[in-house]
Amino acid sequence: MKRMNIGLLGIGTVGGGVFELLKSNLNEIQRKTLTDIKIVAVAEKDIARAKEIVGSSIEVTDDALKLVSDKNIDVIVELIGGTTIAKDLVIKAIENKKHVVTANKALLANFGNELFALAKKNNVILAFEASVAGGIPILKSIKEGLAGNKIEWVAGIINGTTNFILTQMREKGETFAQALSEAQSLGYAEADPTFDIEGIDAAHKLTILAALSFGIPMSFKDVYVEGIKALEQKDIQYAEELGYRIKLLGIAKKRDQGIELRVHPTLIPEKRLIANVNGAMNAVLVKGNMVGPTLYYGAGAGALPTASAVVADLIDISRSTNVPLHGFDETKIDNIPIYSIDDAISGYYLRIRVSDKPGVLAEITKLFGDKKISIDAMLQKEPKEHKTEADIVILSHLAVEKNINAIIHSIESMPATIGKVIKIRLEELSK
Ligand code: HSE
Repeated sequence: MKRMNIGLLGIGTVGGGVFELLKSNLNEIQRKTLTDIKIVAVAEKDIARAKEIVGSSIEVTDDALKLVSDKNIDVIVELIGGTTIAKDLVIKAIENKKHVVTANKALLANFGNELFALAKKNNVILAFEASVAGGIPILKSIKEGLAGNKIEWVAGIINGTTNFILTQMREKGETFAQALSEAQSLGYAEADPTFDIEGIDAAHKLTILAALSFGIPMSFKDVYVEGIKALEQKDIQYAEELGYRIKLLGIAKKRDQGIELRVHPTLIPEKRLIANVNGAMNAVLVKGNMVGPTLYYGAGAGALPTASAVVADLIDISRSTNVPLHGFDETKIDNIPIYSIDDAISGYYLRIRVSDKPGVLAEITKLFGDKKISIDAMLQKEPKEHKTEADIVILSHLAVEKNINAIIHSIESMPATIGKVIKIRLEELSK
């Protein structure tokens, strides 16, 4: 039987999962590949821990550089994470003509363009299914299953930690801080939870999804990012009364002259399947121009789900599956512009605190009329704390962001308005 030797860089949660999966499913994988895919060496700072996992028959070292230049190793699996050491090691491995499998979304979002070029030059595969939505084979679905389509838009719940937090806030009435500490104790959050709650982890993943959907370069620096820290319980409840759920979505949308790339809390109609994806689960909606909307759901993190994606890449390499890294031919990457958030087109939820006086609502709705933006739904509530005040909630039809911002500016300048207007974007996700 053919043999494929793997050097594993990092044996934390996912690395341990890869080791276990290859062992448990050995026969199944051999039956599919006619290849003995074997971890022959592990590089890990914590040598004792690594030995505990892999036993004595596999070489364990703390010298990762040794593995990336080891002639006996065919494929490097990089599970260290981050963009410093991991980047140097991936570059060295590629230069040494080794295929690389990585789950490192930050690395690809920031440096993917140069790494793909290097892989192409050295005629090796750089595979990264595990970098987006863990166990959901979303990149393969886009590159292969949907390859006959033009992708029109992608919208995904691609960060489990924030989805868990939003679920707890909605279902249990918890505060943001309570739900975050629960997510951390369950081990969902990134080492640095700001990457989760500020939307950066989702933006890394959206960058990769957009590159593969539209055949564009990795454009992380152009993604508009807004996390969930500022979300209030009140908005979750008002959204619910109006028939919506709030999710942190990564949205990539092709328009005539460019692409929108944005991560932010979003109202979604509660009747959409994706609005009912709860806890730490992930889901991605992809709209192809021929197939229509398609939905992918599953575990976005965790040892075995992520290992499932890593091993699928190893199997591809063993079969020498020659799908271009981007799914698009490298010479056909499109440098189409990315819209600034001011030019994004979306629906909007606005919450406005006002003094409860005659004429205030009329003045506000006139501002919408003047800008020719149609109001879709409205709610007025007397807050428990202040009987002389009112919360007005307005859902708008599609509008250009800068026009909404101009309306918000005018509302905030009205004498009856108290404090800032809360704005949350809204997507129907129907067509
Ligand atoms: N911290 C990530 C999440 C895990 O919460 O989804 C894997 O990317």
